[in-house]
Amino acid sequence: MGAAFHIRGTVDLKRYLTARQQEVDRALDRFLPKASTKPATIHKAMRYSLFAGGKRLRPILCLAAAEACAGLTKSALPLACALECIHTYSLIHDDLPSMDNDDFRRGRRTCHKVFGDGIAVLAGDALLTIAFEIAAEAETWPRYDLRAIFREISVAAGSRKLIAGQVADLEGEGKPINRAQLRYIHQNKTAALLTTSVRLGAMSANATPTQLATISDFGQALGLAFQVIDDILDVTQTSEKLGKSAGKDVAAHKATYPSVLGLEKSRAEAGRLTRQAHAALRPLGKKAETLRALANYLLEREY
Ligand code: IPE
Ligand code: IPE
Ligand code: MG
Ligand code: MG
Ligand code: MG
Repeated sequence: MGAAFHIRGTVDLKRYLTARQQEVDRALDRFLPKASTKPATIHKAMRYSLFAGGKRLRPILCLAAAEACAGLTKSALPLACALECIHTYSLIHDDLPSMDNDDFRRGRRTCHKVFGDGIAVLAGDALLTIAFEIAAEAETWPRYDLRAIFREISVAAGSRKLIAGQVADLEGEGKPINRAQLRYIHQNKTAALLTTSVRLGAMSANATPTQLATISDFGQALGLAFQVIDDILDVTQTSEKLGKSAGKDVAAHKATYPSVLGLEKSRAEAGRLTRQAHAALRPLGKKAETLRALANYLLEREY
């Protein structure tokens, strides 16, 4: 990581996040068709949700993982953008009346509330599809060709990972659920794409198999912690702060960490998983300090 993001030897994470968010937003703007491109409705809807002010965590984790493996963030940028398109698609569909039925997202009305269910479904489909078009812009590396990259993305977003988690999440509504089932939901609906985010960054840095395994262990622990915290915030934060409706999980009888373990044990679990994520990074030494700082930031976040 460049010295530009250091204050007194430690990472200035706030500046790092802002700089990376802007870099990702500029690149996404270049990769996405203009809002006026025909048919304008779909491109407006895609841009409406994509540029609504998400935290850009998956792309930032991808870029930071590239740095941790001594790679260039420039090589990782198309992959970072592809990840944000997939994530945004998953949010648009997650909010649909037939799924979580949410009216607010990223501080504004949900895509289907503004454009209607049909266009929202299609905007999600189009964001998922364009992710592969954008990923095709990535350069290839000696250890990881585009085939490996495409397989990595499709498996994470597919019916055995992200969608598997979403299916189990829907089927778990209102049912008694044990810890193993809950972990399955969270590992798949959320941790899988976060793990792939850091893995793609590492792959873009031509990481050794050992480095890639290290980064994967980090991603899995961090990804699970991330969804535990999302569950906690749903109970403890306001809708204004979250930019999405709070308290929805209890209302929908969702399987969440607070509902199964209680708030205090959920907080302890998020802390334990964050320590596990830190421990995983040990072999990478100082190069991983941004990833460490990101894990702390995600644990302490308020939205
Ligand atoms: C929300 O993700 C959905 C989950 C997987 C928990 P984020 O909290 O990263 O949402 P944005 O991208 O900042 O809107
Ligand atoms: C969303 O989980 C997971 C995916 C979109 C894949 P949630 O349903 O908990 O996310 P929020 O709370 O609506 O952001
Ligand atoms: Mg959901
Ligand atoms: Mg939801
Ligand atoms: Mg949630």
